Amino acid sequence: MKGIVWAALVAAAWANAQPPSAGGLNIDADSFRCITSMTHVRHFYVDNLEGDLQGTIAAANAKNGAVYPPGSVVQLVPGEAMVKLDKGASPATHDWEYFELDVSKDGTRIRRHGFADVVNRFGGNCFACHVAARPEWDSICETDHGCAPIPVTRAMSGALQRTDPRCGNTSVSPEDAEALRQLDELTKTPARAVK
Ligand code: HEC
Repeated sequence: MKGIVWAALVAAAWANAQPPSAGGLNIDADSFRCITSMTHVRHFYVDNLEGDLQGTIAAANAKNGAVYPPGSVVQLVPGEAMVKLDKGASPATHDWEYFELDVSKDGTRIRRHGFADVVNRFGGNCFACHVAARPEWDSICETDHGCAPIPVTRAMSGALQRTDPRCGNTSVSPEDAEALRQLDELTKTPARAVK
C-alpha cells in the first residue's frame, strides 16, 4: 500500500515538473500576469501569447461562437486559465490546455496543468465541466453555453479579479470584501466543486 501511495506521489511530482506541453507554444509562469492588465471581455479576461489578440477578442465576441486562435489565454479568476495550443496538439480537449495557478504578489506559479485530467483546488475536473459547452462555443462555458452552472457569482469573480495580488492594488472595497467572504463560505461547503 505504502508503495502504491509513494509511486502515485512520484508520478504526480513528475507530471507537475514537466514543462507545459506547448504544442509549438512556449508556456511558462511568465505567460500569465495580473488579470486586470489582460483584455476585458464581458466578465472575463483574454490575452494571446502569439500576438493574435485581435483574433482572440473576435472569437470571444462572436455572436454564434468561434474557435479561439492558438495562443489564446482565457481567465475568469486569477487562479485558473485555459490556453489554446496549436491545432491538433490535444484533439480530446479541442487543443485547450488547462492551468491551475498560484498567484501572489511575487507573481505566478503553475500548480498544475494538462488536458483531461487537471483538477482545480476544489476537486473539480476542468475538462469534465468545460467539455459540456456546445461545440460552437469551443469549451467556453459562460452562463448559457450548456455547462452546468457554478455557484460563483459575478460579484465573486469580479472581486477575485480586482484583488489579484499580482496587480498591486492595496485597497479592497466593502462590496468586494463581502463577495470574497461569501465565496469563502461556499468553498467551506463539503464536496462542492466551486471554481
Ligand atoms: C464544476 C465545473 C467547473 C470546473 C471544475 C471548472 N470550471 Fe471553469 N467554468 C465553469 C463554468 C460554468 C464557467 C462559466 C462561469 C460564468 O461565466 O459564470 C467557467 C468559466 C471558466 C473560464 C472563463 C471562460 C468560460 O468558460 O466561461 C475559464 C478560463 C475557466 N472556467 C477555466 C477553468 C479551469 C482552468 C479549470 C480547472 C483548473 C476550471 N475552469 C474548472 C465550470 C467549471
